[in-house]
Amino acid sequence: MVERTDVDAVVLVGGQGTRLRPLTLSAPKPMLPTAGVPFLEHLLSRMKAVGIRHVVLGTSYKAETFTEYFGDGSAFGLDIEYVIEESPLGTGGAIRNVADRLRGDTTLVFNGDILSGVDLVELLDTHSSNHADVTLHLVKVPDPRAFGSVPTGPDGRVQAFLEKTDNPPTDQINAGCYVFRRSVLETIPAGRVVSVERETFPGLLADKARVFGHVDSTYWLDLGTPAAFVRGSADLVTGIAPTDALPGPVGAALVLPGAQIAPGASLTGGTTIGRGVTVGAGASIDGSVIFDGAVIGAGAKLARSVVGAGARIGDGAVVNDAVVGDGVEIGSRCELLSGIRVWPGVTIPDAGIRFSAEG
Ligand code: GTP
Repeated sequence: MVERTDVDAVVLVGGQGTRLRPLTLSAPKPMLPTAGVPFLEHLLSRMKAVGIRHVVLGTSYKAETFTEYFGDGSAFGLDIEYVIEESPLGTGGAIRNVADRLRGDTTLVFNGDILSGVDLVELLDTHSSNHADVTLHLVKVPDPRAFGSVPTGPDGRVQAFLEKTDNPPTDQINAGCYVFRRSVLETIPAGRVVSVERETFPGLLADKARVFGHVDSTYWLDLGTPAAFVRGSADLVTGIAPTDALPGPVGAALVLPGAQIAPGASLTGGTTIGRGVTVGAGASIDGSVIFDGAVIGAGAKLARSVVGAGARIGDGAVVNDAVVGDGVEIGSRCELLSGIRVWPGVTIPDAGIRFSAEG
């Protein structure tokens, strides 16, 4: 593998991850265990795979958690630096804030919560062959109405940044990964809050800068919500989403060391079982993420849910599309459904919450 010494990677990891609360009360979103390792480790593995070595993390919320885990990056084959914002500067402000750490002329910027199959070598090639100032990864999605869309011309040049509408003119959306010419990045105003999406990119278009799109239809998911988080983790475990950091073979489930799975328990749909987890007899867990040290009772049925560290799910409980915080105790035969979030430390007694009419 040729080292890309001309390219620095910048990852924006300073957000509070409010949509993923209560999981993000104890760890920032990019540090949440996802298919067995912090989500960011999957993203970093994709950079390393294309020869990028120098990575700058733009941190703010719970900045120390990144340094403690990744250190100088050498254990991950990378050279990682950290820049801390005392108060969050927004996506554009965060990019500008790391400018003095950049070494090459090309900067690859990632939102730290995007899982994507984009070919980074092709993205960088698109940028250099167009002599672009900025190149955005644009991904084609089946339903673009939930996103702002980004039309491009026949030459690949970005024509506009459009707000969400019910009738978008293109299915291409901003995928949260950009290549900047360094001198262009340095024109972002320093020391204040800037949104790269709302201010920097539209401003560059208005100034007739060379802004191009690199369009593809590869795997793409923004892990911002609990539903997307469990989907992304499951897709990493089953091999649908690309990573070089999966701590085990691709399959229907990933079981980390020290977990105890009783006979007859069923683990499917890309479920991850954390270290030291106990799963009781006859339990079924589908497409879920069980953090370290949790206990899942006999006959419990979980689907598309996250169970926080050390939480206990009682025998026969049903947990669908739920987020159960760290240390929560859910009594036997409870039914938690439909996007419910249980805050850390809460105890719910046996059959204390039911959707069914019988107690
Ligand atoms: P929500 O609060 O749930 O919207 O999540 P978030 O805080 O992560 O915001 P969002 O999903 O819009 O952020 C996209 C990416 O940019 C994430 O990886 C964030 O960590 C990162 N990010 C957002 N705002 C900032 C910021 O002010 N500074 C830095 N360094 N990163 C940011």
